[in-house]
Amino acid sequence: TYVIAEPCVDIKDKACLDVCPVDCIYEGDRTLYIHPDECIDCHACEPVCPVEAIFPEAELPEKWSHYAEVNREFFADLGTPGGAAGTGPTGADHSAVSALPVTAK
Ligand code: F3S
Ligand code: F3S
Repeated sequence: TYVIAEPCVDIKDKACLDVCPVDCIYEGDRTLYIHPDECIDCHACEPVCPVEAIFPEAELPEKWSHYAEVNREFFADLGTPGGAAGTGPTGADHSAVSALPVTAK
């Protein structure tokens, strides 16, 4: 799976949403999350993110390695909806994201 890491937080450019062929990128309050069971590893999203927030799970920088769990655990309540468009903005975040300080970007 691909994973969205910390650079997305409070940026949410959403260029990735337009290119994902399976609509597996879901909107939280402060960041977006890739559904690990719905992502087909097509790589389309990684190059379009202007802040380079997206990585293949195996290539996550060490400092953001926990984002694999963050993306996965975000779906503990949502389950596997099969598409972000039908789900809409969730207004929620993983606790690790909610805990991040809000900084001016
Ligand atoms: Fe976030 Fe980059 Fe997508 S900032 S919303 S991961 S294009
Ligand atoms: Fe979607 Fe492909 Fe990225 S399935 S999340 S655009 S790797």
